[in-house]
Amino acid sequence: MELPFAESYRIKMVEPIRRSTRQEREKWIKEAKYNLFNLKSEQVYIDLLTDSGTGAMSDKQWGAIMLGDESYAGASSYYKMKDAIKNILGFDYFLPTHQGRAAENVLYSSILKEGDLVPGNSHFDTTKGHIEFRKAIALDCTIDAAADTQLEIPFKGEMDLNKLEAALKSRDKKDIPCVVLTITNNTAGGQPVSMKNIRETSALCHKYGVLVQIDGARFAENAYFIKTREPEYKDKTIKEITKEMLSYADIMTMSSKKDAIVNMGGFVAFRDEALWRKCQMFCVMNEGFITYGGMSGRDMNALAQGLDEGTEFDTLETRIKQVEYLAAKLDEYGVPYQRPAGGHAIFIDAKKVLTHTPKEEFIAQTLAIELYLEAGIRGVEIGTILADRDPVTRENRYPRLELLRLAIPRRTYTNNHMDVIAAAMKNVYDRRESITRGFVITKELPVMRHFTVELERAH
Ligand code: F0G
Repeated sequence: MELPFAESYRIKMVEPIRRSTRQEREKWIKEAKYNLFNLKSEQVYIDLLTDSGTGAMSDKQWGAIMLGDESYAGASSYYKMKDAIKNILGFDYFLPTHQGRAAENVLYSSILKEGDLVPGNSHFDTTKGHIEFRKAIALDCTIDAAADTQLEIPFKGEMDLNKLEAALKSRDKKDIPCVVLTITNNTAGGQPVSMKNIRETSALCHKYGVLVQIDGARFAENAYFIKTREPEYKDKTIKEITKEMLSYADIMTMSSKKDAIVNMGGFVAFRDEALWRKCQMFCVMNEGFITYGGMSGRDMNALAQGLDEGTEFDTLETRIKQVEYLAAKLDEYGVPYQRPAGGHAIFIDAKKVLTHTPKEEFIAQTLAIELYLEAGIRGVEIGTILADRDPVTRENRYPRLELLRLAIPRRTYTNNHMDVIAAAMKNVYDRRESITRGFVITKELPVMRHFTVELERAH
C-alpha cells in the first residue's frame, strides 16, 4: 500500500481554541456590526482572515529569538538577516522594515513622483495605496485569464507582456520608476507566475530601461509551483529556483509575515548600492537605523531562520497540500472557488453561491457572515465593500468578482480543521437558495472602508 502524505513536522506547543454556539455567534456578529474585523479573536473558532503573521514559528525560530542581539547599531542579528538575504535570495543590500507596506513606503518615498506610471500584475492593496497616495498610477497588466474563476491553467497570476509593453511604450522611462511583479499574485487568488514569465517580464523592462521590483511576500510558494508545474524545473531545489526567480529583479519588497513565517517583519532588498543608499534616508526617518529598520534583533533572527525553513520543499509541500486538501473537499461538495486552488488561500466564488442575494446587498460579505454563523470560521470579503466607492461619483463600485477569501495560516491548523471548514461551506452552500437578503451599510469611512464599516441586515 502506498503510504499517505503527512505533515513534515510534529507539534510541540498548542494554543487552545474554543467552539461556540450559533446563538453566541448571532449575538457577537451583531455586536460587531456584521464586520468580521470587529470580532474578538476568541469569538472565532478557525481564523482564516489572513495568512499574514498568523503562522506558527518553529522550535529553531523560537530558539533564535532567545539569541537576539538588541544593539542599536550593527547587531549580530542584522548580520544574520543579511547573510540569509544574500545566501537565499541573492541580494547584497537591504533595509529591514516593520512589515511589507513599510518596505513599499521606504522604496516609493525614494523613487516615485506625482504622475508616474507603475505597471504590475495586480498590485496588492497596500502597494496600490502607496502608489496612488503619491498621485501616481498603478496600471494592472495581469493576463485576462486570471478573471475567469473556472479556467484551470497552471500560471494564472502572470503579467500580460503585450499590456506591459504598451505601458512601457506609453511614457518616457523617467516616468516609470519600476514595474511590480507580485509572486504569487495574491489579488488574482494566490496564483503563481512561471519562471518564463518572470524572465520575459524582466527582459522587457530592462529593454526599456525600467527597474523590476518583485513583491515577494509569497515567493517561496511561487517557487514550489514552478518546481511542480514548469517541467524544466522539476529537478531543481526550491532554493535554486528562488535564486533564479529573484535574479531577474532589481528590487525586492518583502512582507516576511508570509513566506518567512514570522509574526512581524519585512525588508526591501536591492541589487544596486546607489539605490540602497538613496532609500536609507526614508528608512531612518520612518522605520529606524539601517541595521534594524522596524525590527528588533530577536525578530531579525527569527526571520533569518524562517527564510531558510520557508524555502525547504517539505515545508512548502505540507502547506500547499493542505490548501489542496481543502480544495478537494470543496470539489466533493460542489462549492465553486477560483481554480486551481492558490498557494495561500481558497477564494470562494460568492456570486456562484449566493445567486439569490442582490449585489447591492454585498454578496461576498453576506457569505462571509453566513460561514461565521455556521461554524465560527472567519474569512474575508474581497468584493464590493473592499472595492470602495468611485472617488468621483461616490457610487459603489461593483467588481466583476465577489470572492470570500479563506486564507490558511502556515503550520497552524490540521486537516481536521480543513474538514470542518469544508463541511461548514457545504452546509451554507446547501441552503444557499434561502439566503435572499444581504446587508446595508450604516457607517463607513471615505477610504479603506472595509476595516471599519458597520452594517445591518437588509429587510
Ligand atoms: N504584498 C502582498 C502580495 C501582500 O499580500 C501583502 C499583505 C503586502 C504586500 C503587504 O504586507 O501586510 O506585511 O504590510 N497581505 C496581507 C493579506 C495583509 O492578508 O493578504 P504587510
